[in-house]
Amino acid sequence: MNPEQPLEVDYARRFQCLGALLNAHADLWRPAPFHVPRPAWCAAHADYAAHLLALADAEVETLAGDNRALIDLAGRFLPELLQLHPLIELSRLDETAEAVDEDTARHVPGRKRAQIGAFAAGVGRLDHPVLEWCAGKGHLGRHLARRWGVPVTSLEWDGELCAEGERLAGDVEQVFVHADALAPASVDHLAGRHALALHACGDLHLALLRGAVEHRAPALDLAPCCYYRIATPDYRPLNADANLRLSRDELHLAVTETVTAGARERRQRDRAQAWKLAFLEWRAARGVARDKTFKPVPAAWMAAGFAAWIGRLAAREGCAAAGGEDWSAWEATGWHRLGEVRRLELARLVFRRPLEIWLALDRALYLARHGYRVRLAEFCGRELTPRNLLITARRPAAPIMDVPTEPVP
Ligand SMILES: C[S@@+](CC[C@H](N)C(=O)[O-])C[C@H]1O[C@@H](n2cnc3c(N)ncnc32)[C@H](O)[C@@H]1O
Repeated sequence: MNPEQPLEVDYARRFQCLGALLNAHADLWRPAPFHVPRPAWCAAHADYAAHLLALADAEVETLAGDNRALIDLAGRFLPELLQLHPLIELSRLDETAEAVDEDTARHVPGRKRAQIGAFAAGVGRLDHPVLEWCAGKGHLGRHLARRWGVPVTSLEWDGELCAEGERLAGDVEQVFVHADALAPASVDHLAGRHALALHACGDLHLALLRGAVEHRAPALDLAPCCYYRIATPDYRPLNADANLRLSRDELHLAVTETVTAGARERRQRDRAQAWKLAFLEWRAARGVARDKTFKPVPAAWMAAGFAAWIGRLAAREGCAAAGGEDWSAWEATGWHRLGEVRRLELARLVFRRPLEIWLALDRALYLARHGYRVRLAEFCGRELTPRNLLITARRPAAPIMDVPTEPVP
C-alpha cells in the first residue's frame, strides 16, 4: 500500500474490492444452511463441503470464532478468497483503555465498563460539548464529562434509563434528553456538538450520520451495531458507488459473531436450534417449505420436553400432529441437522467480517464525501465486543484529536 495515499482513497478501493468479492461469491453466503440443507455451492465445491462436513466439533467451534482461520481454510479451496485478508485488516487503536472512574465503575457491568474505557481512549481528547446518541444510562457520557470537563447531552428514548442516568449524573454536567432518535427534531442537538454513539443500531446510527452531515457537527465517533435494524426490507447504501445489494435478513450475517457464551448457555442455544431444525424437517415432510418463517418460540416452552414443545409449536403454526409420531426420532433428526448446519455455516462466516467492514466503509465514505476526515479502526479486541469498529470523523476546522494521518495497513 502506498503510504502517501489518503485514507479516503484506500477506503474507496477497499469498498469496491470487498463488494466485488462478496458479489462474486454470493452463492456461498446468501443461502442459510438453516433453511437450505444443501446450498447449491455444495455441489459446485464438493471438496470444500466434504471437508467442512468432516470437521470435528471442537474444530467447528474454534473456526467459528476466528475470522482469519476461516478465510485461510476457504482459501485452500477458493484461493481468490485469500484477497480478503488485507481488505479486512484494520489498525487496532491503543490497547490501553482509559480506566473509568470509581463511580462509573461501580454502576457499570465489567465488560461494558471495559468497552467504555476502550471507546473513550479511541475517541481521544474532547474539545466540544458532547451529544451521546442512544445513551442508555449515559455511562459513557458521564465518564467523558468527568474526564474532559465538557458538558454532555445524552439522548435516550427509554424514560427509565434517562431517570436512572440523571440520578447517577449527580453533580456531573450531564443532561438527558428523553427523545426518539428517529424524530426529525433529535438531530437538531447535533449542531456544534461532538456526537458519540457506542453501539447504536441500524436506522438509529444512520439517522445520526445524516444529521451530523446536515448540521455540520464538528466531530463524530460511532461504533455501529445491529445493521439489520432498519425499517426497509432492503439496505439502502449511503454511497452511489456501492456495488452490493443486501436484504435486511442478509444484514444479520454481519453481526453473527458473538463473544463465546458459557457452556450452559451454549447447550441451551444448541438445544433450541436443534429442536427448531427438527420442527422444520417434520413440517417439510408434510410439504411445507423449510424457509416458511414462524414466530419466535417462548423459551419457557422448552421446559416440558421435546414432544410437548413440538406439539405446541405445530398446533400454533396450524399443522397439528396426528397421534403416533416418533418424536425421539424427529429430535435426533434435529440434532443431526444442527451438526450439518454448524459445519456448512462456516462457509458463510468467511464473509461475516468482510460484510461488516463493507457496511462500515459505506458509513465512513459517506462522512468523508461530506467533508470529514475519517478513520476506520478497531477500538478493542473481539473478546471485549465483536462490534469493535470505530468510525471517527472530524471536520477539518475542528481541532485534530489523535487521528493518525497514515493509511491503515
Ligand atoms: C445497545 S444500547 C447502547 C446503549 C449505550 N450507548 C451503551 O453502549 O451502553 C442502545 C440504546 O438505544 C436506545 N434506543 C433504542 N431505540 C431508540 C430510539 N428510537 N431513540 C433513542 N434511543 C433509542 C435503547 O433504549 C438503548 O439504551
